[in-house]
Amino acid sequence: MDPISDRSTATQRDAGLPGPWRSEFPITESRAYLCGGGLAPAARGVSDAVGAWVERWSLDPRGIWDRLLDPVEEVRDRLARLLSCAPANIGVVDGTSRASNLAVALLDAPPGSNVIVDATTYPSSLYPWLERRASGVEIRRAPSGWGGLGASVADVKRLVDDRTVAVSITHVDPMTGFRHDLRPIADVAHRHGAVLIADVAQSAGVVPLDPTSDGFDIAAGTAMKWLLGPPGIGFLYLSDAVLARTRAPQVGYVGATVDPSDPDRLVLDPAARRHELGLPSLLGMLGFAAGLDIVLACGVDRIATHVERLVGRCLDGLAQRGLRATTPDDPTHRAGIVVIPMADPAAAAAFLRARAVDVWSLARTSALRADPHVFNDDSDIDRLLEGLDAHVALRAPTGLRSG
Ligand SMILES: Cc1ncc(COP(=O)(O)O)c(C=O)c1O
Repeated sequence: MDPISDRSTATQRDAGLPGPWRSEFPITESRAYLCGGGLAPAARGVSDAVGAWVERWSLDPRGIWDRLLDPVEEVRDRLARLLSCAPANIGVVDGTSRASNLAVALLDAPPGSNVIVDATTYPSSLYPWLERRASGVEIRRAPSGWGGLGASVADVKRLVDDRTVAVSITHVDPMTGFRHDLRPIADVAHRHGAVLIADVAQSAGVVPLDPTSDGFDIAAGTAMKWLLGPPGIGFLYLSDAVLARTRAPQVGYVGATVDPSDPDRLVLDPAARRHELGLPSLLGMLGFAAGLDIVLACGVDRIATHVERLVGRCLDGLAQRGLRATTPDDPTHRAGIVVIPMADPAAAAAFLRARAVDVWSLARTSALRADPHVFNDDSDIDRLLEGLDAHVALRAPTGLRSG
């Protein structure tokens, strides 16, 4: 039976998330794992899919060979459903960083042109532009609007001009939890003939995405976070218009061929597949397809609602304790990430970890980060809050105070 329709039926039977999905994740039996925005834990279906492939690889590799690239097409089809686009718009690559580098390399950015970035633009999107400064591309940094969290549309408007090639924005900032509203930024970029590049690593799977309504022209993302897949796989979304006017900085036998009547003429795949070179990490591909099955069966809308409820519970609990999160109060400007300023985040994370509560420690900004996902429930948030109580009580026995 098609695993998606099978699971969809199960989902319809159940009133809410996480319901039966929680038991799909063995980690929930022992830990309150709140690092879904870093490396999501393998669900049973994901481990089974990887394990089955390894077994076939061990016992009958020749049997795999004839349909070797099928798992890539399964991933592409599922990503296309997730992003409300055609499979032709999706290239499956080896991470957000690769996709972001491809995005930058694809664009014609002559000397004197510029790109707009802001404080939330993740290094994987910024560094490829910094590398192009040598060829005369100017980097324009939007001062942080939105209470210091991310570029406002007014910032982008002030910086954009007809030499702007791209506005490069990380949809959800992993350092603050801030979520941009992409549409108005896309409109400003488009008015000047520029493209919007969105890093969706922290939004795909937990925020509904649609290039038509959100307005992005290029997107880069990863499997291992909100899409419940393994590390080392990512994707590149390219709009039809971008596909039509770009080629490929690197080529290989998967995404290109030669003209049978002229062996010196390279013919690129018309689709985003043209960016796929040789054999990818097949080991992880089936795991990614299985992770996407769970996300699609749950539905991103329902995951978003569930996660927002857990984020709200966490923020309320923090506020009751006099702790203020960096993450915006406005639910439309946040997604699945809660950032909590903390004096010694490494010590706090280690204390929580000893109580089987996993959160991130952000050294640079001196904060803890909790990322509740579909497999988390209220009890995980409560264990985090109780752990923080215990941690603060140890350090300041007279009561809670913010770090
Ligand atoms: C917003 C964002 N972009 C990019 C990355 C890097 O992704 P990758 O390791 O797939 O290049 C991360 C985190 O790992 C991230 O949070």
